[in-house]
Amino acid sequence: MSGRVLVTGGAGFIGSHISEAYLAAGWEVVVLDDLSRGQQRNVPSGARFVRADVRSPEARQVVAEGGFTVLNHHAAQIDVRVSVDEPALDAAINVVGLVNLLDGAGAGGVRRVVFASSGGVVYGDPEVVPTPETAPKAPISPYGVSKLAGEYYMRALAALRGFEAVAMRYANVFGPRQDPKSEAGVVSIFVSRLLENRPLTVFGNGLQTRDYVFVRDVARANVLASTAAIPAGSDIDDTAINIATGKQTNVLELAELVGKAMGQKPTVELAPARPGELFRSSLDIGKARRVLGWKPEFGFDDGLPQLVDWFRKEAR
Ligand SMILES: NC(=O)c1ccc[n+]([C@@H]2O[C@H](COP(=O)([O-])OP(=O)(O)OC[C@H]3O[C@@H](n4cnc5c(N)ncnc54)[C@H](O)[C@@H]3O)[C@@H](O)[C@H]2O)c1
Repeated sequence: MSGRVLVTGGAGFIGSHISEAYLAAGWEVVVLDDLSRGQQRNVPSGARFVRADVRSPEARQVVAEGGFTVLNHHAAQIDVRVSVDEPALDAAINVVGLVNLLDGAGAGGVRRVVFASSGGVVYGDPEVVPTPETAPKAPISPYGVSKLAGEYYMRALAALRGFEAVAMRYANVFGPRQDPKSEAGVVSIFVSRLLENRPLTVFGNGLQTRDYVFVRDVARANVLASTAAIPAGSDIDDTAINIATGKQTNVLELAELVGKAMGQKPTVELAPARPGELFRSSLDIGKARRVLGWKPEFGFDDGLPQLVDWFRKEAR
C-alpha cells in the first residue's frame, strides 16, 4: 500500500533515508526542510523539494493543500545543549512548529501523522532497561520535554481533527549522512576522528551503554508505520513505538567496533563524565515486532562499513 507523503526534515540524516525508503516502496514523496542543518543534496532525486520553516504559514499551507495521505515529521531542533541554552527556540521549532503542521494536516485531510520522538530522552533515567513504551515519562532536558509535548499534541489534535498519530521513539540512530558535529552522533564522531588519526574522547569511565539502531532499519520502520494497523487508545503510549535493537553497547566497546571496521586500533582518551548523562539506555522492541512486524536487520558488522564508506567518499 502506498500514497503521497510529506517528509519534513527530509534533507537531514534520518529524513533523507526515510524519503528513499518511501520512494522504493512506491510512494510519491515531497520533502520540506529549511536547510538549517540538512543539505539539499541529501534529498533523493525522485522527491520534490520545498524549502520552508515548519513554523511558517507556508509550511502549514503545503500540508493543508498538498493532498497528502501521510505527514512524516522529522524536522526538529535536535541538539540537547541548544535546548538547554535556548529553550524557547527549541520549543518554537519542536512544539509550535509541529502544532502548525498538525493544524495543516487536519485541514488537509491527512490520514496519518508519523512523528519522530525519542526513546533516548522521554523516559529520562528509566528503572527498567530495555525500557518498554509504558515506562514512566520523565524527560530531563527541554528537548526531551518538547518531544513528549509533541506526543501529547499529536494525541489531542488527532482526536479533534480526525487523523491517526504514531510516535516513533528512537534509540541512538547511526548511519551514513549523520553529521559528526551533532552530539547525538557518537558513531559518526568516532569514525571522523579515526579518519583524521585523532584519539577518541570518552566521557566518564566509558561503561555507559546505548542502544544503536541503523538508519535504514529506522527508515523501513517508518514506511511500515505509515500503513500498519495501530490499535487506537487513550494514552500516548498506545500509539508510540520504540525503534531500537534492545541491545546495549558501551562506549569503549563502540570505540573497538569502529576501530575494527576501519582496520585501526583506536587511542582512547578519558575525559570527566558529563553531568546528567544516562548510565544505561536501551529500548524494548516487542511492540515494534508485534504491531509493525519489524525487527532490525542491520547490526554494527554491516552498518558500520556503510558509514565508513560514506565518510571516505562523501563526507568531506
Ligand atoms: N539521530 C538520532 O539518534 C535521533 C534519536 C531520536 C530522535 N531523533 C529525531 O529524529 C529527527 C531527525 O533527526 P536527525 O538526526 O536526522 O537530525 P538532522 O538535523 O539531520 O535532521 C533534521 C532536519 O530538520 C531540518 N530542520 C530543522 N529545523 C527546521 C525548521 N524550523 N523548519 C524546517 N526544517 C527544519 C534540518 O535542516 C534537518 O535537515 C528529529 O526530529 C530528531 O529529534 C533523532
